Amino acid sequence: MQLPNLNAARLRTNAAVDYVYLNSENNSPFTNQKYFLKTYGCQMNVHDSEEIAAHLSSLGYTKTEDLKEADIVILNTCAIRENAHDKVFGFLGRCKHLKKEKPNLIIGLCGCMAQEENVVSEIRAHHPYVDLVFGTHNIHELPQLILEKQKEQAINVYSYEGKVFENIPYNRDSQIKAWVNIQYGCDKFCTYCIVPYTRGKQRSRKSQDILKEVEDLKDAGYQEVTLLGQNVNAYGKDLEGEMSFADLLEAVSKTGIPRIRFVTSHPWDFTDAMIETIAKYPNIMPYIHLPLQSGSSRILKLMGRRYTKEEYLHLYQTIKEKVPNVAITTDIIVGFPNETAEDFEETLDVVNTCQFDGAYTFIYSPREGTPAAKMLDAIDLPTKEERLQRLNTLINHYSKIANTKYVGKTVKVLVEGPSEKGKDKLFGYTETMKLVNFPGSQDLIGEIIDVEITAAKSFSLDGEVVKDAITNH
Ligand code: 5AD
Ligand code: SF4
Repeated sequence: MQLPNLNAARLRTNAAVDYVYLNSENNSPFTNQKYFLKTYGCQMNVHDSEEIAAHLSSLGYTKTEDLKEADIVILNTCAIRENAHDKVFGFLGRCKHLKKEKPNLIIGLCGCMAQEENVVSEIRAHHPYVDLVFGTHNIHELPQLILEKQKEQAINVYSYEGKVFENIPYNRDSQIKAWVNIQYGCDKFCTYCIVPYTRGKQRSRKSQDILKEVEDLKDAGYQEVTLLGQNVNAYGKDLEGEMSFADLLEAVSKTGIPRIRFVTSHPWDFTDAMIETIAKYPNIMPYIHLPLQSGSSRILKLMGRRYTKEEYLHLYQTIKEKVPNVAITTDIIVGFPNETAEDFEETLDVVNTCQFDGAYTFIYSPREGTPAAKMLDAIDLPTKEERLQRLNTLINHYSKIANTKYVGKTVKVLVEGPSEKGKDKLFGYTETMKLVNFPGSQDLIGEIIDVEITAAKSFSLDGEVVKDAITNH
């Protein structure tokens, strides 16, 4: 179909992408219309939503937090576990209801679930009120999809798209800290995980493009960047002659941006050079998310994780020794097919040894198309739930201990905004990614300041600003 004549301006033509932008405030049919964007899942999706928001505002839409006000609803979905799927279809039900009152409402679904063939078939067969479906590889086509939308459903999902796009527009949620993609997709194919199927194989961005983006963010006043990828420390392995992740970290550090973080690291790709770089540069934050998944070497093998319990522990201890005051968090799955009581005890053993600062814990969820989904599993759900509960109790115990160690200490906090914990309170994060709530003036937002920790909770710290100690670095 022809695009309507809307002064569509092709602003970007690099990397064979044409972003369709409407270059006038007045002649877009979407001016005065509102978008409601709901994001499920990981930081990658959160960042993708910043791109979706940019496309929607380029068409003239403004954001609303109120579903009832929306003229277009976009659900950016996650496929990592079955419950994410259930939540999305639950929310779609609400949208369907709303559409009865508001027949022109556009409903769009994107993200990892849109990359699943069975989901697309389900939408086609049973959810005709969904107007648009697009995938993780063609977010840039959203403006076109909206403009071309006719009465019938528009489904446009690539099964695999190898391109890496540059100069992607983002409506960033924060003016203080920013996500920076360094790599897309994943080549690890852990047997339980759907990500390599929904996001495709690993594609790294060129280091010069990443560095340029970080420089620009620094010039725009950003205090923190988080380098983002499913497997950041495999960075560059898919590009001939590209630098390693350790070298990239060093180069990003040298831009002088005050704070650098990165997620997620795979233990198998963690090198000594990385550890040295993290220890050497003060603007690389001493905080590492290092997914364990299981403490049993037998289960790790079945998961295809490429390390044993002992290798993980060795890496963990090395990081702890070499990086002063480092905080380490993890991901753990319980109830992988045929995880025995002994396997689970091995996981508890690692948790007792490592005493993680925190952990995200999950019950294994079979994902169609992954090798683990075909494995027979004799362990019942109540057993898995009981294990999860035991694990969480232990994890919370160590989080509290880790937090308690901060009481009486003065730490640097990047102040992000007003706290939910009360009027005149602010919140921010320590270098080690601990959430701190403290009383203070709004002028401090965006600054890195010294805060003395006065109390520790399980999931946050309370503090007091150390007067005259705004560091401004
Ligand atoms: N079931 C449960 N948890 C999973 N994760 C990934 N796939 C699954 C699955 N099929 C968890 C892993 C990963 C985190 C992002 O989600 O722990 O690190
Ligand atoms: Fe999934 Fe494993 Fe890749 Fe992480 S490393 S995204 S768990 S396949």
